[in-house]
Amino acid sequence: MKHDVEVRIRKLRDEINRHRYLYHVLDKQEISDAALDSLKHELDRLEQQYPDLITPDSPTQRVGGRPLDQFNKVRHGAPMLSLNDVFSREEVTEWHERITKLVPSGHGLDFYGEIKMDGLAITLHYTKGMFIQGATRGDGKVGEDVTQNLKTIEAIPLHLETRESKPAIKAMVTKALAGSVEIRGEVYMSKKVFDALNRDQEKKGEQDFANPRNAAAGSVRQLDPAVTVKRRLSFLAYDVVTDLGQRTHEEAHNLLAALGFKSGDHNEHLAGVEDIEKYHEHIGTVRKEFPYWTDGIVITVNDIPTFRRLGVVGKAPRGAIAYKYPAEQATTVVEDIQVQIGRTGALTPVAHLKPVRVAGSTVSRATLHNLDEIERLDVRIGDTVVVQKAGEIIPDIVSVLPKLRTGKEKKFHMPHVCPVCGSTVVRREGEVAHYCSNPSCYAVQQEGMRHFVSKAGFDIDGLGEKILVQLARADLIKNPADLFSLTEADLEPLERFAEKSAQNLVASITASKKISLARFLYALGIRHVGEETANDLATHFGSLQKIRRADLNTLNAIPNIGAIVAESIFSFFQEKKNTGMIDELLSRGVRILVPEKARKTALSGKKVVVTGTLTTMSREEAKAKVREAGGDWVSSVSRETDFVVVGDNPGLKFDKAKKLGVRTIDERELINLMAGK
Ligand code: IVH
Repeated sequence: MKHDVEVRIRKLRDEINRHRYLYHVLDKQEISDAALDSLKHELDRLEQQYPDLITPDSPTQRVGGRPLDQFNKVRHGAPMLSLNDVFSREEVTEWHERITKLVPSGHGLDFYGEIKMDGLAITLHYTKGMFIQGATRGDGKVGEDVTQNLKTIEAIPLHLETRESKPAIKAMVTKALAGSVEIRGEVYMSKKVFDALNRDQEKKGEQDFANPRNAAAGSVRQLDPAVTVKRRLSFLAYDVVTDLGQRTHEEAHNLLAALGFKSGDHNEHLAGVEDIEKYHEHIGTVRKEFPYWTDGIVITVNDIPTFRRLGVVGKAPRGAIAYKYPAEQATTVVEDIQVQIGRTGALTPVAHLKPVRVAGSTVSRATLHNLDEIERLDVRIGDTVVVQKAGEIIPDIVSVLPKLRTGKEKKFHMPHVCPVCGSTVVRREGEVAHYCSNPSCYAVQQEGMRHFVSKAGFDIDGLGEKILVQLARADLIKNPADLFSLTEADLEPLERFAEKSAQNLVASITASKKISLARFLYALGIRHVGEETANDLATHFGSLQKIRRADLNTLNAIPNIGAIVAESIFSFFQEKKNTGMIDELLSRGVRILVPEKARKTALSGKKVVVTGTLTTMSREEAKAKVREAGGDWVSSVSRETDFVVVGDNPGLKFDKAKKLGVRTIDERELINLMAGK
């Protein structure tokens, strides 16, 4: 009997580990999360019954650790170095010349290029294949023992395995499994997990993380591993410290892959400066599509003996550089802090900055989110601050440089009355934000209108912010329904409106009257209902009537819709003001397309990925249209993907599609498919 259990336990462990590897190292998925959880559950139950069968590398041991009082210090055998940064071709060329002079003549240099992951450096020790200890870099000589937390990261194998590899690599793997091996790499947080974490922090009224690096570092340096496990971190290996006979950095990477680590999807052998430049350029264009953040590439002298001979200057090896992309941070001065009123009536403090270049564009404003954030940063008008642009995100103030203060800086106070309509400002119990108490505040209306006509909503061409303000000032629109009564005669007397543009605007308003349920719901501007949720609601209910009538329990039972969102939807449809507005929209000719009709296109139920730039529509429009046609918009290519739409300058998704044999189509074919052709 016990023998049978032992066999079952072993098989379960192998199977769970295989799926872990597929998912976290190879980005593939064979069984659902629920099925995998079920296997883990069975294993856990058996281990509870037979605790003597528990091994330290069992998948159940990833989450077993107790909170610590403090981390122990670990002295690194070989120092954990950093890299010197370069930013231009000239600097790469200088580096190349410098090191060429230092290696004995006749040795042509070759290189290895890889992604510089934006996370935190970690070193891992394995003995006889078992993960025994992991530590942070610390000061490079002494780090902290974070083994328990690293065990929660599924991309880190708890024991090393022999994966398929060439004979030369196989010999190294055998050696690694027999003795001790030290592996280094970067713990990081994917963009998706980072965004979800910050949304969650906001919901809980807790602080946002400034960037994925801080989030990853904060998550690894948690005394309670139960917190770390929730942060869903990843790991990318980039070096084998132990000499197992590897002669090149490229071989070290092959060895890492053979031992079961994720070692980079974009690594490349590079012959010289020309190749390095091309690689830097290529990654520079495709990195926006990566599921993680990267601020540069790492170039390493490929030949390991040569790399060693080149030695170390200060804390960085001569034989490797970080070739960075333009800085995403800069310093500037806060000239003023003003409040902006959003669609929900929330007052958002915005810092007006002395314009500064960050990551290729000029930044003159940064959001300060709310009063708590201002207090946390202790930012004052006149302060010098560090601003940051992460990806497409609105710039953020990361920190203040208090040493640069003159004493003339002024503290910000939240206004007591709304700067637009003069009503009182309130802060509700348990909420971080301040709100204008007047539901018909002009600013609130204005923001609501902007949202209503936006691309993902009614998508009305020619209704920019300026025109909306103009129409509101002329008393022509008080709420979205008023748009649908506008006539050319209303518009023509207005400044900037010639006969033609009045005609055009009325035509685009008329054209927008036919709208999908999902876009209609989004346009209403219900709190917490973004595009995704609107889409989920439309698919689930199929008609506006059903949503209007749904009670709180029904809404709560919908997958992906949490209690706060359900409550917000429910109370929106309880308010006469809102239902009255919807009725008015319908009576002025707005027609909601029945989802069933839309679903009968060739895209129905199909998974669609887009890579590169489309010419006739933006990504946002494409996303909305694919969904309207019943398709499923997904961000990464897998075997399950049905179509990869290839635009201009396609990224790596194109290569992956070809590799996996996924059907690729161009923009025109996509449009035809959406139209049901
Ligand atoms: S090689 C000699 N490769 O960047 C140091 N580092 O600025 C060995 N990093 O401390 C580093 N991705 O934390 C290397 N593919 C990569 C990397 C990488 C991220 C980090 C690492 C290092 C820092 C240096």
